[in-house]
Amino acid sequence: MIISARRLRRCQFLHIFASCFVLSLMLLWVQEDNHVVNHMKSYSYRYLVNSYDFINESLSLIRDKSDGAPSYRYLINNKEKCRAQDVLLLLFVKTSPENRRRRDAIRQTWGNEHYIRSQYTANIKIVFALGVHKNPMESNLLQKELVAENKKYNDLVQQDFFDTFHNLTMKLLLQFRWVNAYCPHAKFIMSADDDIFIHTPNLVSYLQHLDRVGVQDFWIGRVHRGSPPIRNKNSKYYVPYDMYPWTSYPDYTAGAAYVISRDVAVKVYEASLVLNTSIYIDDVFMGICATRMGVVPQYHTFFSGEGKAPYHPCIYNRMMTSHGHLEDIHHLWKEATDPKVKLLSAGFWGDTYCKLVNTMLLCKLHYVDTYPCSAAWS
Ligand SMILES: *[C@@H]1O[C@H](CO)[C@@H](O)[C@H](O)[C@H]1NC(C)=O
Ligand SMILES: *[C@@H]1O[C@H](CO)[C@@H](O)[C@H](O)[C@H]1NC(C)=O
Ligand SMILES: *[C@@H]1O[C@H](CO)[C@@H](O)[C@H](O)[C@H]1NC(C)=O
Repeated sequence: MIISARRLRRCQFLHIFASCFVLSLMLLWVQEDNHVVNHMKSYSYRYLVNSYDFINESLSLIRDKSDGAPSYRYLINNKEKCRAQDVLLLLFVKTSPENRRRRDAIRQTWGNEHYIRSQYTANIKIVFALGVHKNPMESNLLQKELVAENKKYNDLVQQDFFDTFHNLTMKLLLQFRWVNAYCPHAKFIMSADDDIFIHTPNLVSYLQHLDRVGVQDFWIGRVHRGSPPIRNKNSKYYVPYDMYPWTSYPDYTAGAAYVISRDVAVKVYEASLVLNTSIYIDDVFMGICATRMGVVPQYHTFFSGEGKAPYHPCIYNRMMTSHGHLEDIHHLWKEATDPKVKLLSAGFWGDTYCKLVNTMLLCKLHYVDTYPCSAAWS
């Protein structure tokens, strides 16, 4: 009897000890702001609670008290770029003063307006959106070059803010203000990074189709659902609690490339006038504006986020955007627009062949940041 009582106590002790150990581990985990915990909290919030009322309540500017975001003056502008034309797509490329090579590559490949007009009878307008270089010495030199570049191509729009990562929301505001002022009649508006590849022929024929059937509240791209704010100070995407105290961002599309319809551009512009613009992650800010206006993004499986598309004609036949192309952009443009791409995937057998090839390319057991597996069968 005595022995078994002692054994019982030892058992209890072990049990309590183990529980305490696990509990303290969990506490430590939460305090460390672990990546996994943050994601779990954020997903639970997004899928169980899914209420972003705080955007209206806490992120709205108090009327008459504040003027909203600063309005920077234009240093370079092309007010006439869109005027008196039927514009299917106005495409903003977010660039920086020093990225001349990237802009030239885009002008020569997927951003060649004349080529798109002659081959696909569509009017697209490419506008490069930028600020000024942070370093005053370099800025002076670069500014002269930018003026000359613009004289040649007439496609730069520059405002007087430092072109830095933490000013990306200012660049977003530039785009929506510019649409509102100089191109309100564009049917679709796109925003993209300058290291992206856009299959403009595929995109244009898709948008032409949508234009015929008519769409509203249209916003597509690679959608982020239930993303948590990053609380790690070493991260590029770090956001402090006092800037955004909630556990989850509203849904938004990756800033790498997304497309909206004209009515959404109007709504986001209106929201941007009454919301606090201090949150510097531009695609998150876009999500906040859209949520306020009740616009929801849709996932298009052939829009990539950070990732690259596999190199294959069956992919080229469907691709919209692919991220991280600098050196290979000329080659990819040539390959992706080659007439053999369409021939290969034409007809029942071509279609079946490409579905199988794309399944092999996209459906991997380990995670690859590219198009999702479902894209192969969509
Ligand atoms: C915010 O308010 C607007 C009207 O002021 C409303 O249309 C919208 O649905 C609200 N959004 C949220 C998330 O409550
Ligand atoms: C954004 O640009 C403004 C105007 O040039 C500048 O005062 C500010 O420091 C910039 N912010 C960041 C985070 O670079
Ligand atoms: C916007 O929010 C920040 C907190 O992130 C706050 O410091 C600032 O005063 C707000 N701005 C306005 C105009 O309400």
